[in-house]
Formats: sequence, C-alpha cells, structure tokens
Amino acid sequence: MKNSSLPIAACRLLGGLLLAGAAHAQAPAGAGPGSGAGADEAPGMQLATRGGPGGTAACASCHGAQGEGNAAANFPRIAGQPTGYLVRQLASYAEGSRNNAVMGPIAKALTPQQREQVSAYYATLSAPATKPAQAQGKAEAERGKQLATVGDERASVQSCANCHGPGGVGQAPNYPYLAGQHASYLVAAMRDWKSGVRNTDPSGQMPLIAKRLSDADAAAVAGWFAAQPLPGPASAPVVQRSMMPGQSMPAAPR
Ligand code: HEC
Ligand code: HEC
Repeated sequence: MKNSSLPIAACRLLGGLLLAGAAHAQAPAGAGPGSGAGADEAPGMQLATRGGPGGTAACASCHGAQGEGNAAANFPRIAGQPTGYLVRQLASYAEGSRNNAVMGPIAKALTPQQREQVSAYYATLSAPATKPAQAQGKAEAERGKQLATVGDERASVQSCANCHGPGGVGQAPNYPYLAGQHASYLVAAMRDWKSGVRNTDPSGQMPLIAKRLSDADAAAVAGWFAAQPLPGPASAPVVQRSMMPGQSMPAAPR
C-alpha cells in the first residue's frame, strides 16, 4: 500500500522535533562552527535538513533528524547505510526500477550530484537504535535466526549473512545493513522484491530469495534482524568476503 497521506501527516507530527534534532545531527567530525559553509557535506546536509530548491521535502521530515526512520510510518532507517547503496536506491527511484509513489518524485527532483551529496551525508550519520515495536516469540526468533545465519537448503535459500554480513551489519558498498532496521520496513521490502515492484538488485538474487520465503518466514527473519545490534558507521568498507553483484551465487549452505 503506497498511501502518501500517512507519511505527510507523520511528517507534520515530526516537524517540531526537526529544528533541535537537525542541529544535533549535523557536525560530522571536523566541521566545527563556521567551517560548514564550504565543506563537501554541506549541500547534502542542507538537502537532508532543509530540503531542496523547488520545494523538495527535507529528508529529515520523514527519515528523522538523524536518519533513524520511523517504524510506525514505515520510513526506513538510512543513517549509516553505505553511500554507494543509497546512491543506487535514489537512482532506482528516479528511473522507476524501484517503483514508489513517495520516493519517486523526490528522487526525480534531485540531480545526480545532489543524490551523491545527500547519500554521503547519511552514510556518516549514526542514529541511536530504536526499540523494536514488539518482541518476537521464541520459535519465530529461532526460525529468523536460522534463515539469517544458516539459510534453508530445502527451500534453496542461502543464509542472509553470506551477503549482508554477520548479524546483518552490511558490507559496503553494495550490501545494506539489515540489523536494527525496522521490521515493518523489512517486511515491506521483501514484499516488493517478491512482486517485482522493486527490481534493483544487480545480482538478481533478492527477488529469487523473496519468492522462496513464505510470508511467515519473511516476518520471522525481519523480526530477527530488527532486534540485532546496529552496525557501526558505514565509512569503513568491510572486507568483501563474498560475491559482487553479477558474479555467481555463493555456495549454498550445507
Ligand atoms: C514524505 C516522506 C519522505 C521524504 C520527505 C523522504 N523519504 Fe525517503 N523514503 C520514504 C519512504 C516511505 C520510503 C520507503 C519506500 C519504499 O518502500 O520503497 C523511503 C525510502 C528511502 C530510501 C531507501 C532506503 C533503503 O534502505 O533502501 C532512501 C535511500 C531514501 N528514502 C532517501 C531519502 C532522501 C535522500 C530524502 C531527501 C532528499 C528522502 N528520502 C525523503 C519517505 C520519505
Ligand atoms: C547473494 C547475496 C544476497 C543474499 C544471500 C541476501 N541478500 Fe538481501 N540484498 C542483496 C543485495 C545486493 C541487496 C541490495 C539490492 C539493491 O541495491 O537494491 C539486498 C537488499 C536486501 C533488502 C533491502 C534492504 C533495504 O534497506 O531496503 C532486504 C530486506 C534484504 N536484502 C533481505 C535479505 C534477507 C532476509 C536475506 C536472507 C533470507 C537476504 N537478503 C539474502 C543481496 C543478498
């Protein structure tokens, strides 16, 4: 369901927090008072906290002052995702391979340079963890952990850790972290891979994986990842231990 009235209502609600929060969220290391104006990240920060010319909404109005997202409104966390991953998502929204009524027009209104700038800005943020909306039952958490760490050979689903890293911490630049992401958003993402609304994975693996998981499995693995500790900032690329998109699939777990 791509209802844009909910996001807008939620944005108004969050609006009051922004002034205080934005001032807090900016200031990457080294950008002391007065040094922000000419710095590389300044235009990205401006887009994020104040929006763009021509009325582009401030990203922070939905994604939160520090990129922490909003579980109830289904706005994903984007703080600390790898720059390369974020840039590709914005490009995909703009050209439609990721079809979303809210993000499409926003991404289209940005130039490629602005997408780079705002992505680089969010990659440096580290928003605090938000508590999962509800605790998972024991059996469901076990199933989620199994899929995440071992996979399910019978269903031909390899472990998520093969690509998303141990505990779902992500691997820059291509694999997003799943740890600490809102479960509601992860479930929606799996649904979009399954239906083809999202067709952005250059390796072609995510649509296959999503189709092989039942709704119950998708909910189990989403809930498990949502409860994992957040990764550190994405600035340091993790050693690429497995495939790059386009290469063949890592061996199925045994
Ligand atoms: C009106 C609310 C709203 C605003 C404003 C907004 N977003 Fe989003 N954003 C969303 C929603 C909702 C989604 C999830 C869409 C989906 O399911 O594909 C999203 C998804 C994203 C994603 C994909 C995250 C992922 O993990 O794949 C990125 C990147 C993103 N937004 C960046 C931005 C940037 C940068 C801006 C500012 C230029 C911005 N957004 C402004 C609501 C918003
Ligand atoms: C073969 C590598 C691979 C494996 C294994 C894999 N993924 Fe992914 N996944 C990716 C890539 C690459 C992306 C990013 C695609 C893009 O750029 O849009 C992704 C993106 C995602 C996203 C979207 C995240 C976001 O912020 O929007 C979710 C959710 C996800 N994967 C869940 C899973 C789950 C759950 C499993 C295990 C059952 C899994 N993935 C296993 C490669 C993989």
